[in-house]
Amino acid sequence: MTSTRPDTGLETAVRFPADFLWGAATASYQIEGAVTADGRSPSIWDVFSRQPGAVANGDTGDEACDHYHRYREDVAIMSSLGLRSYRFSVAWPRVQPTGRGPANQAGLDFYKRVLDELQNAGIEPWVTLYHWDLPQALEDAGGWPNRDTAERFAEYAAIVHKEFGDRVRFWTTLNEPWVSAMLGYHNGVHAPGRREPAAALASVHHLLLGHGLATSALRSQDPGATVGITLNLAATSAATDAPADLDAARRIDGLANRLYLDPLLLGRYPDDVVADVAALSDFSFVEDGDLETISAPIDMLGINYYTTNVVAAPDGSPPDPGSPHPAAEDVRHIGRGAPKTAMGWEIDPDGLYRTLKMVADKYPAVPLYVTENGAAFDDEVVDGVVDDPDRVAYFDSHLRACHRAIAAGVPLRGYFAWSLLDNFEWAFGYDKRFGLVFVDYRTQRRIPKTSARFYADVIARNEVW
Ligand code: NOJ
Repeated sequence: MTSTRPDTGLETAVRFPADFLWGAATASYQIEGAVTADGRSPSIWDVFSRQPGAVANGDTGDEACDHYHRYREDVAIMSSLGLRSYRFSVAWPRVQPTGRGPANQAGLDFYKRVLDELQNAGIEPWVTLYHWDLPQALEDAGGWPNRDTAERFAEYAAIVHKEFGDRVRFWTTLNEPWVSAMLGYHNGVHAPGRREPAAALASVHHLLLGHGLATSALRSQDPGATVGITLNLAATSAATDAPADLDAARRIDGLANRLYLDPLLLGRYPDDVVADVAALSDFSFVEDGDLETISAPIDMLGINYYTTNVVAAPDGSPPDPGSPHPAAEDVRHIGRGAPKTAMGWEIDPDGLYRTLKMVADKYPAVPLYVTENGAAFDDEVVDGVVDDPDRVAYFDSHLRACHRAIAAGVPLRGYFAWSLLDNFEWAFGYDKRFGLVFVDYRTQRRIPKTSARFYADVIARNEVW
């Protein structure tokens, strides 16, 4: 529904469906700190972040936002913003320090305390089972390129669900398997920092298999659970209509979007992508029955959206050694000339609309949630206040894009801002701030930014005006 703003006569206010789920998201390694507390073992990020040059400024998640000890204050902030839901991840190395075997009760108890707090605040928990912090012990045994890791993940998922299934309705198996596989094992920018393209492709399959096995484990424990996966997706377009540019766009769309969407929602890997990477892998890691497991119906698909890809054909310049796309390192990524966030990512709200439409138009119907969307800007505290008009504009424009998608028939059911708090932005360390709430890392003081007030108003009114 849209309405007319009296002062301008323009149709600017857009109202969301009454049951639209409003939330904010975080992830364990990015906020918790307390990396040795209560039996937690090292994850691949604890090890990777200690490698010289791996993370900006040598930052680690050792303390992060100290959410492990400050979760009460953080839930109180969520309450003050009127969040209806909170998406967070469980750290596997807290629950199974060696990645296998019996659960570590002290680790589970932390999440129990968080869930108690959320319950008291009337905030719906949304649990992500894997947001990149693989127990290092499992990496030492081969990591995601090793098929056994998928089995271990399902076992861990069943433990967490058994403990919390009575209070958690929404379950996301994996967050952004593209990032785990390609940044972790192909270009090595993320933990565990390996540069092995064939292993990266095996990781894609074992991550998806882990999702499928975990989904079936959760369903067998509770047929009523709402289970899904979160993918980072980006509408991809060609710089021009020249066939070579169109082919470059096909290749990147294949590697960034369809390599995940097709097996999950159609039960097959895209032939053209398999052909594109044939020199690296023959996909012999796919065993009978795997694609049935991977494509078992999900109850929702989470989409993380930040920006889009505009690509052009190779022009003979040397391939980019840092490219996250195997067998497409020579494809050129070119900009639209739009303003950028502090990450250097172009701001393209219409791209969110196009991404949602692409999924809704090309795949069987499944409820969609934007499980992450947000922006880093160079925030400053001035007189105790953090005014972030660029982030307000980012949220405003992207929420309008969501509304347009709903009006066009896309089954979008909710939206989670990334992130509740400034936090450890992976290889960028603490330099990049995505929070609705500013964190002073010296004092751990939290300061809600102007964008937090804006988002609280959006939620209270159920509209962008
Ligand atoms: C997506 C990831 O899930 C999250 O961990 C990260 O901080 C944001 N993108 C921003 O880069």
